[in-house]
Amino acid sequence: MTAAAQKQDIIDLLLSQHNEIKSLFAKVRNASGGEQKRQAFQQLVRLLAVHESAEEQVVHPSARDDASDAVVDARLREEGEAKHVLSHLYDLGVDAPGFDAKFAEFERAVLAHATHEEQEEFPALRRNTDANTLRRMAGAVRAAEAIAPTRPHPAAGESAAANMIAGPPVAIFDRMRDAVRDWRQEHQR
Ligand SMILES: [Fe+2]
Ligand SMILES: [Fe+2]
Repeated sequence: MTAAAQKQDIIDLLLSQHNEIKSLFAKVRNASGGEQKRQAFQQLVRLLAVHESAEEQVVHPSARDDASDAVVDARLREEGEAKHVLSHLYDLGVDAPGFDAKFAEFERAVLAHATHEEQEEFPALRRNTDANTLRRMAGAVRAAEAIAPTRPHPAAGESAAANMIAGPPVAIFDRMRDAVRDWRQEHQR
């Protein structure tokens, strides 16, 4: 890990993942050919699993104090719904006739969810949490990323990353939730 990456706090990290999520949506949309599209979709599943698991277990709980229960409950509902739609898209398969329309709807929902977080949760978290704690919280994201690489290793290529964790979104989300939970127990956060 580079020194710059080590200094990134959880909010910087989640914001840069919001950008990566946006690019992956575009990558799936613009993919030519089923295999390219399938790989981009699987990459998106991994990144969303890492990202949403860290938010669910590390960010939202502290936002209950910083923002409000109503705000957090709305975000958790959206994340639950996103998992459900991802599973549906996965079962459908990227080549199915209904995939693109459903995927476009999903993209709008996920981007609206991210905007809510950026406006309603992240600023309060930054105001109410000291810089060191925010940097330590980033460990939750890295613990999940260590299991599910969110971008292919330059030398190994996407297929190696995909082989490390593939399969139904529900299974991937469960593994990420466990990884973040283990990290929290180890670090008492
Ligand atoms: Fe989220
Ligand atoms: Fe997010």
